[in-house]
Amino acid sequence: MKVERKGKYVCKTVLNHDAGYMVLEVGDMVRTSWKRPGQFVHVKCGDGRLLRRPISVCSCMEDEPEDTVAIVFERRGTGTDWLAQRECGEYLDVLGFLGNGFTMGPEGRYLLVGGGIGVPPLLGCAKAAPNRCTAVLGFRSADRAMLLDDFRAVCPEVVVMSDDGTLGEHGFVDAGVRRLLEAGERFDGVLACGPKPMLRSVAKAAAEFGVPCQVSMEERMACGVGACLGCACKTKDKNGDPQISRVCLNGPVFDAKEVDWT
Ligand code: FES
Repeated sequence: MKVERKGKYVCKTVLNHDAGYMVLEVGDMVRTSWKRPGQFVHVKCGDGRLLRRPISVCSCMEDEPEDTVAIVFERRGTGTDWLAQRECGEYLDVLGFLGNGFTMGPEGRYLLVGGGIGVPPLLGCAKAAPNRCTAVLGFRSADRAMLLDDFRAVCPEVVVMSDDGTLGEHGFVDAGVRRLLEAGERFDGVLACGPKPMLRSVAKAAAEFGVPCQVSMEERMACGVGACLGCACKTKDKNGDPQISRVCLNGPVFDAKEVDWT
């Protein structure tokens, strides 16, 4: 059940040139609405224009008297620019939690694969399965990296990659995924979040090694609640027949086999 709350903005960290981390106090929102990591919130950005933006949740906590939610956003336009200019103590209108999130078992080992602004939701997965995840995290360059120490605190192995070689290994995350799988590391699932070409490559590698793969799709959203078809993506039903899914309502997490990657 999604709820709308006035979230008090209590802590802010600049993660890199474009990305910001915010902690919000959100009343009973976590207690009443949170289901799984990979869900997101829809935050009203802007005075009067009532625009909402889907924002990744990187962790949340039930607490008294106020639950807290940590979100990460990337500046991509007027709405997120407005968000970046908010100051601690201000209130934001937050609708959540939206979407389905990743399905994780109580004992499995997971390979978390994130690219860019797809990295934050996976921190929730890593925290949900401490010491049971390996993370492969990719960024365009060293100055775009984020949350590395947070992942290292809960994951025994964190592989960092960059497109330009300025941080960690030079290359894309699917190469890191293949290397781990070829080395014989066993995982019960691959959980991936990032741009579609990255997800396609990771899903292909997981399929080759027979590891179930869930992908969180990054589509542009408008209403965020299934009403506008602004986030439509091509998927397949159980018989393999084509269908259209709404990322905000039916996702954002899909079994990689359900996605039409063409
Ligand atoms: Fe409107 Fe998904 S954003 S249907």
